[in-house]
Amino acid sequence: MGLKTFEEIDLEGKKVIARFDFNVPIRNGEILDSTRIDFALPTIKALLEKNISKLIMMSHLGRPDGQIKPELSLEPIATYLAEKLGTEVYLSESATDSGIKTLLNLGHIKIVLLENLRFHSEETSGDNEFAQTLAQYADIYINDAFGVSHRKHSSVYQITEYFRPNQRFAGLLLQKEILALEKVMNKPEKPFICVLGGAKVKDKIKTIEKLLVKADNLLIGGAMAYPFLKAKGFKVGNSLCSHKDVELAKTILQRDKGKKIILPIDHIIAKEPNAEAETLDNIQIQDGFSGFDIGPKTIDKYSEILKSGKTIFWNGPMGLFENKNFANGTNSIAKIISETNSFSVVGGGDSVNAINKSGFSDQISHVSTGGGASLEYIEEGSLPAVQILKYTH
Ligand code: 3PG
Repeated sequence: MGLKTFEEIDLEGKKVIARFDFNVPIRNGEILDSTRIDFALPTIKALLEKNISKLIMMSHLGRPDGQIKPELSLEPIATYLAEKLGTEVYLSESATDSGIKTLLNLGHIKIVLLENLRFHSEETSGDNEFAQTLAQYADIYINDAFGVSHRKHSSVYQITEYFRPNQRFAGLLLQKEILALEKVMNKPEKPFICVLGGAKVKDKIKTIEKLLVKADNLLIGGAMAYPFLKAKGFKVGNSLCSHKDVELAKTILQRDKGKKIILPIDHIIAKEPNAEAETLDNIQIQDGFSGFDIGPKTIDKYSEILKSGKTIFWNGPMGLFENKNFANGTNSIAKIISETNSFSVVGGGDSVNAINKSGFSDQISHVSTGGGASLEYIEEGSLPAVQILKYTH
């Protein structure tokens, strides 16, 4: 059964509570990347066009672990939304503040943003009472928070219990995300090429196993490449390589009968991240040096494979890209993928960041707002908060 959105539903005069993932990077009150908020705007605007009486928005920000942390207040987000929507957005003092119901009875107040849900430990523990308190604010529930739909948290999971199936719907972004991932995982046009990067093999083991079945090639980059190279007997110098990751890499390589896994053949190395960077023209890294990015020959090799792809999925950077000396691999992959004619999906904060910086994000078929969520979807074929939204009881 597919996801049901609110598009065809008459919501006139209804109070609607909608969960978004506004977990964006903020420094000193300034939003550094507004992608997640911008991608939620179509849902917000579509709801407002339906003449609803109130829109109650909710989100988490960071991981305050049930503590009130002023630096994780949603205030900058309320300001940003008010600017984008051209209307007032009231930020509540807390998500369970007794004044919220009063606020919602005031005729002139249309849009309320509840303060950071994770200031309450009940949100992440999946507390039913907390979910019920949130549910009581509204007649209709919308989940548009793809990025957090792999969590069984109150505002995406338990809350659905307090709305009948004809009172709870998916938002437009959630629907778009799921359709893109379904296309990648259920019926990818072949060749299907995946690019995986990031720090640890351990964190992506299940994803790699799933993709080895579905994909034609798996191009590995980032710190994750070194345990694989070591497992194959190459020298990796001082590159980050835990014993556990090397053992996992060995197991994966043994299972890779189709030789789908492709590893770097040259590197950008340095004695340490802040020392001078050098291009190493071969695969073997000598002691005293670490690999921090893929080299130009690897980029060419990966580029050739990517150009043949009809479906491409990319998650995780190719190197320590926050340091400009080691950003070329990640930026090049972003550009190459954007130039292909494939159905391309990019997920994960760092890869999305690289795509945005490259200026080619509009040439990517789908830029996902969920890193962890998109990986879990690939591993499990569904997400708990999406399944429960569809559930009819
Ligand atoms: C994310 O940034 O991936 C989502 O907002 C989920 O956040 P979390 O990993 O803290 O649950």
